[in-house]
Amino acid sequence: MKPSLSVKVGGLKLRNPTILAAGVLGVTGKLLTSVAMSGAGAVTTKSIGPEPRDGYENPTVVRVRCGLLNAMGLPNPGIKEFRKELEDVKKTVNIPVIASVFGFSPEDFSDVAAVMRDAGADAIELNVSCPHVEAVGRQIGQNPDLVSKTVKKVKDQVDLGVFTKLSPNVTDIVEIARAAEKAGTDAIVAINTVRGMKIDIKTSRPILSARIGGLSGAAIRPIAVRSVYEISKAVQVPVIGCGGIQCWEDAVEFLLAGASAIEIGTAIMDEGLEVFNKVVDGIESYLAQKRISEVSDIVGRAHSY
Ligand code: FUM
Repeated sequence: MKPSLSVKVGGLKLRNPTILAAGVLGVTGKLLTSVAMSGAGAVTTKSIGPEPRDGYENPTVVRVRCGLLNAMGLPNPGIKEFRKELEDVKKTVNIPVIASVFGFSPEDFSDVAAVMRDAGADAIELNVSCPHVEAVGRQIGQNPDLVSKTVKKVKDQVDLGVFTKLSPNVTDIVEIARAAEKAGTDAIVAINTVRGMKIDIKTSRPILSARIGGLSGAAIRPIAVRSVYEISKAVQVPVIGCGGIQCWEDAVEFLLAGASAIEIGTAIMDEGLEVFNKVVDGIESYLAQKRISEVSDIVGRAHSY
């Protein structure tokens, strides 16, 4: 018998545990639709804020040997404009759409979340972890009290699952996860990118216009696996793993560490959208070979060692 890959996470039922990560192809309804058609279990929009933002000047992205550095500066059309994209995508896809939102105060987050809900979002992901937009990533995401206020405000405003995406750029990620859980978050997403930089040795200049960016890709996977492992031991709400997942073996590692689902982002640049089907097929064969009937049966297995 084929193993069941469907999972329940924070109020959502997914056909399989793969989710498109925020910021990658989630800019327009059309792109989100093509990811949905490629086999993902759910898709996450780009992070959308209360007003339009241009973001930083180029260069905003640079490849490094072990991954990708980006500092876009949260460019987005603003919630008023983005609402149409979400309404469009909801007409065409039959998998959950998670709306990633950011703001500069708890009120901003809840205002944007309310419009996302009205436009048909199935869940809200709070981006409190951008590594280089100070107000979002540092003032809010590194402060357990502000994370707590933000989660509470959004939970009071919208009757949807609220997921909190955490930053690895903190002293103790578990403390922030606990604060989010206490405030009512329905799931933790771990992790956003790791602060990093690259300098051009010919010109002596930092390459990114923002100088410091967020590192994603293979290099951060062990940090993400460790974060998922520690957080899922400390909280009761589900954890969604994110960070450097490139193949099914990586996905299984996250599930064993305690993730109930996983987000894929940077790998799409190398693997294309086929990465979703490849990861799903790989997880299915792994479970079949081990005669495990439900993917949820392996979540957190590494905790017992
Ligand atoms: O630069 C950016 O827009 C990145 C956002 C994030 O990592 O959350």
